Amino acid sequence: MLGEVHRPGVGALFNPSMHRFVDRALDHVDYLAFIPDRGWIDRGPGSPQRFQMLPQAAALLEQVARVRPVVLHAIGLSICSADLFDQPYALNLMDWAERLNSPWISDHLSFTRIGTGHEVNAAVPLPVPYDQEVLGLLIPRVRLFTESRRFRFLLENNVYYFSYPGQEFSEEEFLNQLCRQSGCGVLLDLHNLYTNALNHRFSATDYLSKLDLAQVTEIHIAGGVPMMGFHTDSHTGPVLEGVWELLEHTVPLARNLRGVTFEFHESSFGKLGEAGILEQIARARAVVQAYVPQRLSARCS
Ligand SMILES: [Fe+2]
Repeated sequence: MLGEVHRPGVGALFNPSMHRFVDRALDHVDYLAFIPDRGWIDRGPGSPQRFQMLPQAAALLEQVARVRPVVLHAIGLSICSADLFDQPYALNLMDWAERLNSPWISDHLSFTRIGTGHEVNAAVPLPVPYDQEVLGLLIPRVRLFTESRRFRFLLENNVYYFSYPGQEFSEEEFLNQLCRQSGCGVLLDLHNLYTNALNHRFSATDYLSKLDLAQVTEIHIAGGVPMMGFHTDSHTGPVLEGVWELLEHTVPLARNLRGVTFEFHESSFGKLGEAGILEQIARARAVVQAYVPQRLSARCS
């Protein structure tokens, strides 16, 4: 279970389609992941009383937090923006993590926001070049989270549909350096990795052999579909077989893993159905239960 390290938990990323059955779903998960940006109103930088959690979201979070850990998975920090770092956003996120006693919080290794004056939001997470300059930009920002030590702070490997030529580091080397120098952990999204490997023609297992898997605290699993010659991270439907294979490969190697989270988009609730969602969660639990004992016995021998 979560706090004891011995066996990772299994969770789901909440979306509005789950409102109808969240009570029953909680019987099947060890924690719930929640996107706080979908629960609060953000009136924008500089506004008085800038953030306001909507009453329905606050009630849900408090209800869940009474029986299960809640982990916050943010999408608005834009930690890789070159020209802005939204400290009030970061502090608000940490305040909510404290209030909910979250064991970890996360966002993405990417940027969506550009400009400190007339700010533009790209609405999709964009990649950054993996080089020393970006590393230097990120380390003090990450330390704002890690120095509190009240919870772990993770950054997620993102899907990218283009990459920058001539980068100093591969993504896995960059993440290794960032974790070592800033104290953050990795949220390893295996569907994002699967998608990038397909679109950019590299080996996902080779990537995993170079990533320091001891830094992985949480894993995301999801489904996606091909579109216009690309594989997309649409999160529609069940987890792909190739992603299950990557999960089976990774779980025994990630010795500090604390959670495997199923994510799906609310538009695919009809396709999956409540039973289908619980089936995905049960399969993730089966993988954890099948592979973690091997990991534990290997550590004891
Ligand atoms: Fe993800």
